[in-house]
Amino acid sequence: MPQDDVFPVPPGFAAHAHVDGAEYDRLYGQSLDDNDGFWREQAAFLDWTRPFTQVSDTNFAADDLRISWFADGTLNASVNCIDRHLPAKADQLAILWQGDAPGERRTVTWGELADKVNRLANVLKGLGVAKGDVVTIYLPVIPEAIVAMMACVRLGAVHSVVFSGFSAEALANRIEDAGAKVLITADEGHRGGRVVPLKRNADVALAGQPSVAHVVVVRRSGAQVPFTAERDLWYDEAVATAEAYCPPVEVGAEDPLFILYTSGSTGKPKGLVHSTGGYLVHAGTSWRVIFDWHEGDVFWCTADVGWVTAHTYKIYGPLLNGATSVMFEGVPTWPDSSRWWSIIEDYRVNIFYTAPTALRSLMREGEGPVAKHDLSSLRVLGSVGEPINPEAWRWYHSVIGGGRCPIVDTYWQTETGAVLLVPIPGAVANKPGMAAKPYFGIRPEVVDAEGNTLEGEASGNMCFRGSWPGQARTILHDHARFVQTYFAPYPGRFFTGDGVMRDADGYYRITGRVDDVINVSGHRLGTVELESAISSHPAVAESAVVGYPHDLKGQGVFAYVTLKDGIAESEELRKEVVDWVRARIGPIASPDVIQWAPALPKNRAGKILRRILTKVAANDFQNFGDTSTVADPAVVDDIVSRRQDTLAKEQA
Ligand code: WT7
Repeated sequence: MPQDDVFPVPPGFAAHAHVDGAEYDRLYGQSLDDNDGFWREQAAFLDWTRPFTQVSDTNFAADDLRISWFADGTLNASVNCIDRHLPAKADQLAILWQGDAPGERRTVTWGELADKVNRLANVLKGLGVAKGDVVTIYLPVIPEAIVAMMACVRLGAVHSVVFSGFSAEALANRIEDAGAKVLITADEGHRGGRVVPLKRNADVALAGQPSVAHVVVVRRSGAQVPFTAERDLWYDEAVATAEAYCPPVEVGAEDPLFILYTSGSTGKPKGLVHSTGGYLVHAGTSWRVIFDWHEGDVFWCTADVGWVTAHTYKIYGPLLNGATSVMFEGVPTWPDSSRWWSIIEDYRVNIFYTAPTALRSLMREGEGPVAKHDLSSLRVLGSVGEPINPEAWRWYHSVIGGGRCPIVDTYWQTETGAVLLVPIPGAVANKPGMAAKPYFGIRPEVVDAEGNTLEGEASGNMCFRGSWPGQARTILHDHARFVQTYFAPYPGRFFTGDGVMRDADGYYRITGRVDDVINVSGHRLGTVELESAISSHPAVAESAVVGYPHDLKGQGVFAYVTLKDGIAESEELRKEVVDWVRARIGPIASPDVIQWAPALPKNRAGKILRRILTKVAANDFQNFGDTSTVADPAVVDDIVSRRQDTLAKEQA
């Protein structure tokens, strides 16, 4: 990349920022030299019930993995997120909620939030929820989702939020794995003018789930939904009669705060377990710095509550800091594609955080929908979830940010809990598409396939050496998988599963996943998980799924499907397989392309040669590399000619 492709910190920005360039260099150096000292100071951001005496006890060796921060401290998360802002902020706004329908709005003050959380906590307590119990939350983007999370942690219970776009079956798997005691859901959700039948999905998911004794149902749409008398209760009725104060339960810093499921390279989603003390320290302090939030700013993160982005930087980050944030239930393109821009104008949003995939689709609509709105309130823009292509970056920067807003491209994962790489806005110049520089206390390493650490300009695998407080502590019920996946591949380091390039200035560019995970519209999907969903269809003998470059989604889902003997290929069957996957996982997992494959290319040991399938899906028919291992070369020829036929038809 030519050197002129650098966007310096905007003039005047650094003077008012929490961190400027000199401060970044000084603090970053200090955070590595005295890592415990740095995080000890950061931890003073929280209100501890009993202060910790020890900062970290960590070791990344796979045979003796230890990740422990502030271990003998105690605290309560809801006290830190809510109580400590009272009474000072009782009448100030915590949440500005914009419903799916343009006219539908609600506001929640800090005082009201505290009241709702305390009451719901008492309801949950009455249902038998206690410290360490898991509560699954399957809600749309409504204030009650935040209330539900906070009510859990007030009791020391562990929330497990499941994206409301997931199917009944995906919800069932996550409830079962977590052994949830209570489910909190809504009658229906609203998204883009469409209704999502949450309670119906929940009922299907709960059939045969002995662990869930009660379901709390929020009235969102008011629709008639099935109701099981002994098990279900209406949220509004229950909180109306609940006590208004619930004493917070004191928990240890290492006690779990939440579980969040994400896809990995094997079939089963993994429930990453996050700690209370370390996670809150990293989330709260980093949110403030990376978005350069100041008292009075309005913050808006567009992520759904079901993802880690929302946990850390839509919910915990703003709440811990006592910030006002916008919460939007709908989609950017309904009723029209100026929806987000009109919300930014209406609420005078100062800090806006979203995903590249949405920007790419809005960019297609041209500048018209943007030009109708006054976006002059914006000061900082953020990007997350996937690499942002330089073209989308430039559009975001010039058209949305008016050329005056730095873009914080935040690189992190469900596993890392909070940010690892980011150009801190007052400190680090932007280079389009680069997550740039390490956050404080973070030690990135570019590692080759043999595990050698590369210096200077280099490409390789993205690893991190040394712990940070926000990182996940384990995979629920599967610590061996946790060690195996993240700490075994490159001894002494945490392996992210991503590829990375570091330039001569020490800037990092994440190049995408290098494992069997694909990133579709910023959502992580495991290819094995997709394959097992497809292969469970009665007509399917076998399948192989790969990612392929997709203009809007970043990556699309390309499925090669072998049908059982005697089953004919047809358009109907193709649709049926797509619907089958939607029902098993959810609409986000819909295959974009299904190519029938009478056979899959395998080596003599029967292993599917994904490298070839990935090339064909990307319309690259040449660079197959060494094909001498293919057991039957005719299979490759057939796959190539079918793909070429489809392309020829599409172009005709
Ligand atoms: C994967 C993690 C971070 C919260 C949302 C996604 C990709 C994430 C970036 C970025 C390039 C990114 C990586 C990562 N990713 N942020 N700024 N630039 N890639 O969390 O679902 O756990 O997915 O998303 O591939 O491994 P997640």
